[in-house]
Amino acid sequence: MFSGRLAFTEGVNALSLARDRRLRAGLPLTDLALSDPAAAGFTWPPSELAAALTRPGVERQEPDPRGLPSARGAVAAYYAARGASVAEDRIFLTASTSEGYAWIFKLLCAPGDEVLVPEPSYPLLEVLAALECVKLRTYRLVPEGDGWRIDRATLNAGPRTRAVVCVNPSNPLGALVGEADRGVLRDFARRHGLAVLCDEVFLDYPSAGPAATWAGEQEVPLFVLSGLSKVALAPQLKAGWIVAAGPAAWALEACARLEHVADAFLSVSTPAQLALPWLLEAAGPLRLRVIERCAESERALSRWAADGGCRVLPRQAGWTAVVALPPGVDEERLLAAAIEEGVWAHPGFFYGMPEGGAHVVISLLTPPDRLERGLKGLEKALRRT
Ligand SMILES: Cc1ncc(COP(=O)(O)O)c(C=O)c1O
Repeated sequence: MFSGRLAFTEGVNALSLARDRRLRAGLPLTDLALSDPAAAGFTWPPSELAAALTRPGVERQEPDPRGLPSARGAVAAYYAARGASVAEDRIFLTASTSEGYAWIFKLLCAPGDEVLVPEPSYPLLEVLAALECVKLRTYRLVPEGDGWRIDRATLNAGPRTRAVVCVNPSNPLGALVGEADRGVLRDFARRHGLAVLCDEVFLDYPSAGPAATWAGEQEVPLFVLSGLSKVALAPQLKAGWIVAAGPAAWALEACARLEHVADAFLSVSTPAQLALPWLLEAAGPLRLRVIERCAESERALSRWAADGGCRVLPRQAGWTAVVALPPGVDEERLLAAAIEEGVWAHPGFFYGMPEGGAHVVISLLTPPDRLERGLKGLEKALRRT
């Protein structure tokens, strides 16, 4: 009776099951994989949010498939402040970045078509593609200097490949898509007639100096995805966006077609659209606190890693750090032991980290006391395995 597109739900991994068992038994668990800003202490004052969500106009729906002009104007201003000129009519509001992916997959892919995604990368891409009956092909990212580069030998398209995704900066690696890799992706997209999808949700969390958006692209068909969940630390408001960058004639057609997808859903609530300009304008100080927390966590993590023969991989941006574990450690055994010690963290294999080395992925949003407690538990688990 049910669609095969949910096949990914079969075979839940043993670690998640062990974590759920521990939680069901009411035992404590320190979460080192925290991704909800509010759970990490980064919240907007409720009274300010309430005021932003009750602006004049909340009583009406203006059914513009691209979103209210005032909200799109604010998104255009967001890019202007980052040095990219983006026309308002090339912006579509969505309920989230994830929905942005779903709409672009609908726009570009028939069931069974393929999209190229980087590996390592975050596991939700697999789910989002499966829900649209889109197949994934992967290309590898390999460490180079202080960042990661595309392994060109693994960047291959087939007859049904429609798009190539990049994540700028990557989750969990925190690696930016630099000029050299933009050149690689441009050539590749041109050669195979593909669109590029650039996910920039973590762009505003650099660890050193500002990170460059790709929203000003003019040469190849390119969509930039982002949203308030990370940019304004407000995932609960459900507002994100798509920018259709690239050549003008292509963007005109892409937007005309995308409008049909958007019109079928009209996803974003009027209160969220009306609040968006203020949230984008006022988010700077909250983001700064997150950047400081991430830097503080990274320092604590580096000290812990050095003491235990581990190594924190260099990162350029984002909310996560990847720790390389000592040779011979088995990720799954370690993290199963960590759960018994009352600690939850993500193993590298959740993100497709290269085989041959063991990794653990730590959320840098974690408050200092919880990080300390979690790392102590992880250390005990390391000693046991
Ligand atoms: C790289 C990346 N893109 C997109 C998303 C989803 O963002 P949203 O909450 O706006 O759907 C996530 C969620 O963690 C993410 O890590």
